[in-house]
Amino acid sequence: MSDKIAYARNGDIAVLTIQNPPVNALGHAVRQGLMERMDQAEADNGVRAVLIVGDGRAFIAGADITEFGKPPMSPSLPDVVDRIEASPLLVVASMHGVSLGGGLEVALGCHYRIAVPSARIGLPEVHLGLIPGAGGTQRLPRVTGVEVALDIMTTGRQVGAKEAAAMGVIDVVQDGDALENGLAYAEKLLTGGAKRRPVSEMPAPTAIDWDAAYDATLARGRGQISPAQSVRAVQASVEKPFNEGLLVERQIFMDLLKSDQSKGMIHSFFSERAVGNLPELKGITPRSIDHIGVIGGGTMGAGIATAALLSGLRVTMLEMTADAGEAAYGRIAGNLAGALKRGKITAEQHETILSQALNVITDYAGLSDADMVIEAVFEEMSVKKRVFIKLDAVCQQGAILATNTSYLDVNEIASVTSRPQDVIGLHFFSPAHVMKLLEVVVADKTAIDVVATGFELGKRLKKVSVRAGVCDGFIGNRILATYRAAADQMVMEGASPYDIDKALEKFGFAMGPYAVADLAGLDIGWAVRKRKRAEAGIEGVSTYADKICEAGNFGQKTGKGYYDYAAGAKARVPNPEVMDLIEAERAEFGSVSHDFTETQIVRRYMAAMVNEAAKVVGEGIARRPLDVDMTLLFGYGFPRYHGGPLKWADIVGLPDLLSDIEGYAKQDVAFWAPAPLLKELVASGKTFDELNKAG
Ligand code: 3HC
Ligand code: NAI
Repeated sequence: MSDKIAYARNGDIAVLTIQNPPVNALGHAVRQGLMERMDQAEADNGVRAVLIVGDGRAFIAGADITEFGKPPMSPSLPDVVDRIEASPLLVVASMHGVSLGGGLEVALGCHYRIAVPSARIGLPEVHLGLIPGAGGTQRLPRVTGVEVALDIMTTGRQVGAKEAAAMGVIDVVQDGDALENGLAYAEKLLTGGAKRRPVSEMPAPTAIDWDAAYDATLARGRGQISPAQSVRAVQASVEKPFNEGLLVERQIFMDLLKSDQSKGMIHSFFSERAVGNLPELKGITPRSIDHIGVIGGGTMGAGIATAALLSGLRVTMLEMTADAGEAAYGRIAGNLAGALKRGKITAEQHETILSQALNVITDYAGLSDADMVIEAVFEEMSVKKRVFIKLDAVCQQGAILATNTSYLDVNEIASVTSRPQDVIGLHFFSPAHVMKLLEVVVADKTAIDVVATGFELGKRLKKVSVRAGVCDGFIGNRILATYRAAADQMVMEGASPYDIDKALEKFGFAMGPYAVADLAGLDIGWAVRKRKRAEAGIEGVSTYADKICEAGNFGQKTGKGYYDYAAGAKARVPNPEVMDLIEAERAEFGSVSHDFTETQIVRRYMAAMVNEAAKVVGEGIARRPLDVDMTLLFGYGFPRYHGGPLKWADIVGLPDLLSDIEGYAKQDVAFWAPAPLLKELVASGKTFDELNKAG
């Protein structure tokens, strides 16, 4: 008998308690156990009802995702759900915590459902590139109607108990203990003479315009196929008898399980959880953080302060002058007003944060009791060094001194202090209170508990934190610089920025690189180029990208950049002046233009990304391929369903990719030098994912 399901009698009710921590996923032993315990209950003299509850923090979080891709083991989940539903006994589910995916499908196989108010239900299979595969697409529409069922399946959103009750999914919402509530409810049903109520026997729901729903869902999915596929499965619930509908669902589920998209998304699910799990941090106690200082309240400093305030930390913001301090306060207040508007905080919390948790100063003395200070001043080494010298002088012993620099050498910044062990890079992404990524940049002398505190802060701010080593641009910006350069090469060779954006948006990026540049502001890159040229003593150079800026066009903020935004950001159209500038530059350098297909654009852009990513892993700047994947996913809009650049590379095949890179290298040997790690993997027939598994 499986020990994953505890069996107990309570009068004429058999109680089946699922015990599979942490979240009662429906692994093989649980499925087997449910079958056996249903048999046991039916054979148990005097039992009239079965109550299914979950032990610990959830009813059931769904199928065991670690089993996907392995040989299937009987009984399958659809069989378990059918078995429960077909029981001659009255079967009741009492739900608490989450009932997701297969968890909700088990509950829908029960005849009645009760839940505590904090319970949440959902069918999040789309987030794994799948559709519900244990009857959810057939049963849920019978309970809620097609529209509601499609909303739940195609968005994968979690629905609270109250809303689920209004939809008809939950019969009773009751405060208290799930087991006790369930027992009382089952008893009441028995006493009232309630009958079995299999959802599969309910009438089929009403049809909708399936093709329109399919097309709309496909368009919303930005290249992701599974949400639209759930429309087809739900269509079967209306058009076919229940059992045939189940077969349609099964077929689509199995096809999707073999798809590259589900491989990418399952990789994303586990990598998102593994990325902050570093073996060296096990057992290390982070330093305690209650009060943080932020230096510089521009775009980044204000965003970092906002994120910290929203997580309950006290923040002291230091600016250069009272006026700059006022402007910084205004930015933070604006961000917080947005959080209030979106319901992230109450009016009372908003008031308390502004009146009690935030302090704006211009004198470093106010930072003497900060537990951590994050510097976000101008990106200039000399300015940063001056700030760190002052911090070293005023901050208490043990305070962590962090820099939000995008590119500068954290070791060099640390070297001006008497405590380099307390210095770390905490690289946030803009807007810092919205973007999920945090690169925790570990310098040569950073103490291990300082690293642990960086990760702890990330957790507190609800970020996905990635460990990065010191190099120009760390993980993300270093790789970005390379794939942007590859895009620029293609422009010189004949692809337009618009061709490139279009191809990459089709690939799944929310925005192509030139649209992103317009959003970020073209003046930023322009300033960097001018500074680098001045440092190198190069005068009089002006590329087409400089000329766009020289005309006063900095992108969205000025209404024009690569695109013209006169009709709004979404209705962008190419700025006609740009192609003239590009043509002139191609002519000047005698570039031979040729057409690029969308596939060629994507292959080359991705090859540059993967090659640099492999160098980043090979040099130890990123620990594992999955660290790069998560950096690109959470900081750079990389489509989740491709899993990240290195998962994508595994899926398309490393030998082909290497041969592409070797082909491009014929034109530019230095830029396209293949990453040694990529060559090694190809030579040994291995994948990046094998390195993830090796730890
Ligand atoms: N299978 C296997 N492991 C799972 C799991 C699942 N369904 N759900 C969570 N886990 C694991 C996590 O990987 C994590 O493991 P780790 O500690 O080793 O990293 C651990 O459980 C705890 O998970 P979280 O860290 O995510 O804990 P949270 O409390 O933040 O979140 C949760 C809990 C809301 C349940 C979240 O884990 C989640 O969303 N899980 C996935 C739910 C899901 O997608 N279910 C559908 C599965 S597909 C399906 O059911 C197919 C069916 O239709 C046939
Ligand atoms: P910003 O120009 O918007 O803000 C800088 C702020 O620092 C200004 O308000 C300025 O008054 C203040 N400041 C300058 N010197 C100071 C000093 N000595 N003492 C106190 N305050 C001082 O710049 P932004 O964009 O916020 O960037 C700040 C840092 O964050 C830079 O290192 C940048 O590379 C990094 N960064 C920027 C990102 C972005 O997308 N803008 C993303 C991630 C990091």
